[in-house]
Amino acid sequence: MSSRKKLIAGNWKMNKTPADGVALVRDIVAAIGKQSDVEVVVCPPFTALESVGKALEGSNVKLGAQNMHHEASGAYTGEISAAMLRALFATHVILGHSERRSYFGENDEFINKKVITSLKNQLKPILCVGETLAERESGSTLKVVQRQVEGGLEGVSKEQAPTVVVAYEPVWAIGTGKVATTEQAQEVHAFIRGLLVKLFGDAVAQKVRILYGGSMKPANAPELLAQQDIDGGLIGGAALEARSFVDLVNAATAAK
Ligand code: PGA
Repeated sequence: MSSRKKLIAGNWKMNKTPADGVALVRDIVAAIGKQSDVEVVVCPPFTALESVGKALEGSNVKLGAQNMHHEASGAYTGEISAAMLRALFATHVILGHSERRSYFGENDEFINKKVITSLKNQLKPILCVGETLAERESGSTLKVVQRQVEGGLEGVSKEQAPTVVVAYEPVWAIGTGKVATTEQAQEVHAFIRGLLVKLFGDAVAQKVRILYGGSMKPANAPELLAQQDIDGGLIGGAALEARSFVDLVNAATAAK
């Protein structure tokens, strides 16, 4: 058992219109909107942030975005700034998701700029890291994760670090139904904790939440969430339906 509050974050990806999103969070809020044992965040697409945020008012469910640009404003067609997210009362932002890395060419240096900007703007970054299947099979999982954690967190201060969330998402487990075994996940989570100790010292590293992501479902969540260094989940598919998302929050409550 750890002192870290578990966190369940829903990554809706490119799904849900504002109306669909509002309907979904109404059901989520009705079921778990007042619980405070687990931190709950939903991350709709940009276009649904405002209406979903309004539907969350008065509940304990928080609002996050799925991406952000590091510049404050200017000629960046199609991009969204930290201040724009803050103006919609977002508290979290997912950064460096593997889909951003692989489909949109985001690298550690670019993601690091976003992490620094998010922290300056009081947005909590959920920094995603994880190896591809080829990287796991060639034995380079820990090397890849180390590069992504150290690269993503460069320049983050000890004071800022406790608000950072790291999400370990093995790319081969995302949306595939292939979940990492609890041993595989805990091994990498413990490794990430060790990296955080080196970067920020033990006391700070013990405060950072490390989420698991990749086909997390109500059926496999209890075992994953019982691991010492697994502090919650970043949920894709199972976050699109109130029933499964609420079950995951309940699993995290039971595991706390
Ligand atoms: P999944 O996605 O739960 O559908 O595997 C997780 C994620 O990509 O954040």
